[in-house]
Amino acid sequence: MTDLTPITFIETDIDALAGHEGRVAVVVSPEGRMGQSARRVNRLTKGAVQRFMDSDAFGKVKPGGVTSMAWPVGMAAHAVDVVCLPRNHSVEDARKAGAALAKLRGSDNLLLAVDGTRRVADVAFGLAMRDYTFDVHKTASAEQSGSVHVMCSKPQDATAAADPLLAIASGVFFTRDLVNEPANVLTTTDFADRLVELSSLGVAVEVLDEDELAKLGMRTLLCVGQGSDSPSKVVVMQWNGGVHDAAPLALVGKGVVFDTGGISLKPAGGMEDMTMDMGGAGVVAGTMKALALRKAKANVVGLVGLVENMPSGNATRPGDVVTSMKGDTVEVINTDAEGRLVLCDVMWYAQERFKPAGMIDLATLTGAIIIGLGHENAGVFSNNDGLCNAFLKSAAAENEGAWRMPLGQAYDDLLKSRIADMKNIGGRPAGSVTAAQFLQRFVKPETPWIHLDIAGVASVKSDTALAPKGATGWGVMALNRLVADIYEG
Ligand code: BES
Ligand code: MN
Ligand code: ZN
Repeated sequence: MTDLTPITFIETDIDALAGHEGRVAVVVSPEGRMGQSARRVNRLTKGAVQRFMDSDAFGKVKPGGVTSMAWPVGMAAHAVDVVCLPRNHSVEDARKAGAALAKLRGSDNLLLAVDGTRRVADVAFGLAMRDYTFDVHKTASAEQSGSVHVMCSKPQDATAAADPLLAIASGVFFTRDLVNEPANVLTTTDFADRLVELSSLGVAVEVLDEDELAKLGMRTLLCVGQGSDSPSKVVVMQWNGGVHDAAPLALVGKGVVFDTGGISLKPAGGMEDMTMDMGGAGVVAGTMKALALRKAKANVVGLVGLVENMPSGNATRPGDVVTSMKGDTVEVINTDAEGRLVLCDVMWYAQERFKPAGMIDLATLTGAIIIGLGHENAGVFSNNDGLCNAFLKSAAAENEGAWRMPLGQAYDDLLKSRIADMKNIGGRPAGSVTAAQFLQRFVKPETPWIHLDIAGVASVKSDTALAPKGATGWGVMALNRLVADIYEG
């Protein structure tokens, strides 16, 4: 498990700036104003901060940008990081500044002087989010990480403001660790075991095994995992922080720990990326952790379908017909369109058991969504404008890209099967939409529902604003905010 870097909030002590070993960071505004600490560092360095602010380079710094000055005279520090934040900066600017500081710091000591409780908390959040490395499988003994101190005028207030944000960051780290982990380590059983650990935070966790799933009639889910030696599982995580018996929000995640494609085998090139095919389940897990850590006053239930899609002598074949828990039959044309087969049973179960006030499923469902939206936006599909708009607003506020896509009868018609109630693929055109249409067949009309296709955003090959390359944790922040905005009153 990757832990958050501890951040200690301390009282302002401008004399301490001179003697700090490692890096010192101070804040200036693009309008040319220095705070008290920046003025102190400017005096110590015989005007270096001011010379930077008088230079042409300063005009090119973006809000949230950081410029480093190496080996300053008059200080023990080997670098001064000058953070540029306008007086009325956005939350995003403050987070970006924190992330930039984390990146510059590496594993050095950092002493950051910044003021304003909100601003302090937002910078600290960005710093915490970017201070992530997945190095559990590197044998070279991990470098000891230095300390991070944030110097501000009201450290107690800052700690209180940062706490709920750091709970979210912990949830994001949980998601990233799960998504980054290879499939021989994160088997279905290991995944379930890690989720059971959430019970220490007050989440009620149940693990349903294959016998129980068979009894429930989850044949489409089971048919995906039947070629694997790892047993299929469904894990149910309940956080009841809200009004007793109030209908919960249900979060449903695709947890394919590895997707070979099954008998419809994927090509070898890039197949290793399919370790992230449990990304939806990872986001559900991380969101549950964040909600529990910050003791959210809402009822939320997370359900994940954990399976491995492997070819074998008893794997599902193209052409097989299987019966879902709902009772509808599915002709499996392509065993690589497995995510929908997992989700449809878990979604049906979620609605039958919990009668949720809303249901959001997350899945690395289609390659087609990457063709459509790249790695900038997740695809958003919904049967309910109110819930959908609320989610889009939450995602925008957290700077997590999300773009609504259409649904409609003509797309649904593409799923017609000659011999069963439906096929599991609708052909190449609009592949992400027909996948969503398949899911919608398992959504009761009275359930407000959103499907998030996160194939393009769950794990990326270059750094993002708040994450190094690899698993991003996309969605934890947006879902947490959605819960805060519409389910916590
Ligand atoms: N897990 C994949 C989708 C995926 C592709 C996720 C790339 C992340 C990156 C999914 O199970 C899949 O294989 N989808 C097929 C569907 C097709 C057979 C209709 C696809 O997108 O090619
Ligand atoms: Mn697949
Ligand atoms: Zn898949």
